[in-house]
Amino acid sequence: MTNLLVLHGPNLNLLGEREPDIYGALTLAEIDAELGKLAQSLNVTLKTLQSNHEGILIDFIHDYRKWAQGIIINPGALTHYSYALRDALAAVRLPAVEVHLSDINQREAFRRVSVIKEVCLAQISGRGLRSYLDGLKMVVEHIRKDSVSPE
Ligand code: DQA
Repeated sequence: MTNLLVLHGPNLNLLGEREPDIYGALTLAEIDAELGKLAQSLNVTLKTLQSNHEGILIDFIHDYRKWAQGIIINPGALTHYSYALRDALAAVRLPAVEVHLSDINQREAFRRVSVIKEVCLAQISGRGLRSYLDGLKMVVEHIRKDSVSPE
């Protein structure tokens, strides 16, 4: 069994009603349900948290660092300035993928900067729900590739 953390940062609890032209019509519960289905089909267990508070996201990463083998994270606006969240990801050294619903490279200048990206395997942005699903698959592939022992 592979254990993964899914983290959703600030304001993502309002998905569905929050700027749907940018973030789409799906609610966070619907996104989590789709992630849950994919996880089940891949034999993956997820622990999921949404928080509007940086420290709560960091505590969650710390608390589950020994349980999890990887992380999918949409840090919301923390992407653009949270060195504390970046340090937490670097500290636990779990493979992580940064995901975004919108294409952060095609929006305001401040969104083009990610302080999280460098401590992640990849950044996937602009694919809506697919960003999360592709992120999950990428982390799982990375973990399973690494765990194949040489002959
Ligand atoms: C977001 C993009 C961020 O810039 C923004 O602050 C969010 C959502 C996305 O999923 O597109 O809260 O991470």
